[in-house]
Amino acid sequence: MKFAFIIDPITKLDPTHDTSVALMEAAQARGHEVWITSAHHLSIINGKAIALLEPVELQPVKWVDGSWSVTKEWYLLHPEQMLNLEEMDVVFMRTDPPVTIPYLYVTQILDLIDPQKTLVLNAPRGLQAANEKLYALNFIEVMPETIVSSEASVIRDFVEKREAGVLKPLGGKAGEGILFLEWGDRNLNSLIEISTKWGREPVMIQSYLPAAKEGDKRIILLNGEVIGAVNRIPTGSEFRGNMAVGGRVAQTEVTAADRKICDAVAPKLREDGLYFVGIDVIGGYLTEINVTSPTGIREIDRLNNSQIGLPVIEWCEGFKG
Ligand SMILES: Nc1ncnc2c1ncn2[C@@H]1O[C@H](COP(=O)(O)OP(=O)(O)O)[C@@H](O)[C@H]1O
Ligand SMILES: [Mg+2]
Repeated sequence: MKFAFIIDPITKLDPTHDTSVALMEAAQARGHEVWITSAHHLSIINGKAIALLEPVELQPVKWVDGSWSVTKEWYLLHPEQMLNLEEMDVVFMRTDPPVTIPYLYVTQILDLIDPQKTLVLNAPRGLQAANEKLYALNFIEVMPETIVSSEASVIRDFVEKREAGVLKPLGGKAGEGILFLEWGDRNLNSLIEISTKWGREPVMIQSYLPAAKEGDKRIILLNGEVIGAVNRIPTGSEFRGNMAVGGRVAQTEVTAADRKICDAVAPKLREDGLYFVGIDVIGGYLTEINVTSPTGIREIDRLNNSQIGLPVIEWCEGFKG
């Protein structure tokens, strides 16, 4: 089968960390053709989604004696071709956030792909519908107390009642712009002003979960089923657990409470075509649902000696029937 991956420039990917590379390796290991393209290489011609695609061959990275073994030339590109994306069996949309207007245009180009011919994941309609922060609010029964507002008075009131809160820009990722808000902090008003762009942009505020010190669990779901999990523990003076800001990764269990959350979100994820998703869970509460380019596979595989990219690719094979 032919697998296409819409990714950020391959030169910028870290083969020891990026889940897109793990998925491409798994597709190659299963004997499939792997092609790559990027968002700005997509066009519509005669009503069809067309892409400038490059076949890629990967030299899989390996974890040997406590460190990654990576060859300098970990990928080899072959000459590019303009192809109708319906010639691919599977298209993975794996561009990193932020979800900008051009990003949404790309999902609308992907809307033109005939689902009978090609599986696109995550489904463009799901990517259009699911803001990574707001989408979790479909499941407030498993979330910490959360509000969304651009009103300074509303935000101040929430923080005052709880002494503390966590502010999240709605379009952020990897810990960007996440703030710990504390009642009595002399910068509180200023932080609210800057984050809401002086009341013009809504942000999310969540009650602060002290369990965040023990970690922020990333659970990877494939069509609503758990396929792996990893804990990310804040280090030093940092309160955020994201790997991008130095969070230490550690093996973890998926608890009964975590499974309850997964069961709560799974039907809607399936309905919205959000087949490959990473949910974030802190102290048994759902804090975020990552749908654009969830990561974590490399760390899960390294800690558990697994290869969870394989079931993802096998599931895609089965989806085509
Ligand atoms: N409600 C919360 N209480 C305590 N810490 C939180 C809370 N929500 C998020 N965090 C911390 O902030 C980090 C980033 O939050 P998250 O919502 O996952 O946004 P993103 O990963 O997209 O930047 C988490 O890894 C966690 O350490
Ligand atoms: Mg997160």
